[in-house]
Amino acid sequence: MPKVFITRQIPEAGIKLLKDKGYEVEVRTEDSVIPKEELMSKIKDIDALLCLLTDKIDKEMLAAAGPNLKIIANYAVGYDNLDIPAIKEKGIIATNTPGVLTETVAEFTFALLLALAHRVTEADDYCEEGKFKGWGPMLLLGTDISKKTIGIVGLGRIGSRVAYHAKKGFDMDILYYDVKPSPEFEQEFRARFCPLEDLLKSADFVSIHVPLLPTTKHLIGEEQLRMMKKSAYLINTSRGPVVDEKALVKILEEGHLKGAALDVFEWEPEITPALKALPNVITAPHIASATEETRGKMSEMAAQNIIAALEGNTPLNPIV
Ligand code: DGY
Repeated sequence: MPKVFITRQIPEAGIKLLKDKGYEVEVRTEDSVIPKEELMSKIKDIDALLCLLTDKIDKEMLAAAGPNLKIIANYAVGYDNLDIPAIKEKGIIATNTPGVLTETVAEFTFALLLALAHRVTEADDYCEEGKFKGWGPMLLLGTDISKKTIGIVGLGRIGSRVAYHAKKGFDMDILYYDVKPSPEFEQEFRARFCPLEDLLKSADFVSIHVPLLPTTKHLIGEEQLRMMKKSAYLINTSRGPVVDEKALVKILEEGHLKGAALDVFEWEPEITPALKALPNVITAPHIASATEETRGKMSEMAAQNIIAALEGNTPLNPIV
């Protein structure tokens, strides 16, 4: 029977699908990122690998792979942890989990945006620290988001859904930047396509939704951050290295931006200490897709991709 190795516990739904097929499924029991050496030894003798965005599958890892390895199913939509050309060269299929997490990540983006604008985490700290001594007209004043301008960097599935909530929920004006414009989107949301520079100069909220590619690493660097309005906020739920984290800290410490909310970090899981210390920065541990429903669907989707590949069919979500 085919052997499937899962690098860390994931929701049971997908594991059950694999077991129901009669496969020999091994789920690593430690709740931590698998050390490279451990994965290198496991990958020698398996037919399918279900890995996470924290597992780097590079040339060195692939050199350790045994001849039976047919598929690497990434439990994430982003796949910057996979060396796709090298995987393809070895004739191995790579898949990801697009679509199922779109809504959740868009919701979480708004959770961050609202919390940032209305200073929810600061208010929570304030109460917990026993500082609340009575209502005050000047206490913790935030910023309204309704009818403000949101700049969406990357109009993929998630960016489009963030735009939907921005328009339908808060009647925001929408600017967007991507490799190409979408006239239908512009018509539906009265949105405006503009160069990144213009977007940064005009938006009250900038939300990042691009994949991490060589072309998007440090897409938002010091120069770009300085283009933003002093009253603007930055939200990043994509990948940490898209923003130059050192530059972001510098800009925030200078008081050039009103605030930032980050679910992802350049040197994850390390978080630059200053970001944790600044009251106008919200940090989250890469949980934008973390709901029971969505993580269950990601588990099923990764398993279905494995089943298709092991049965000799084309998986639903091949990375091309
Ligand atoms: C992804 O899928 O790429 C997210 O970062 C985690 O779900």
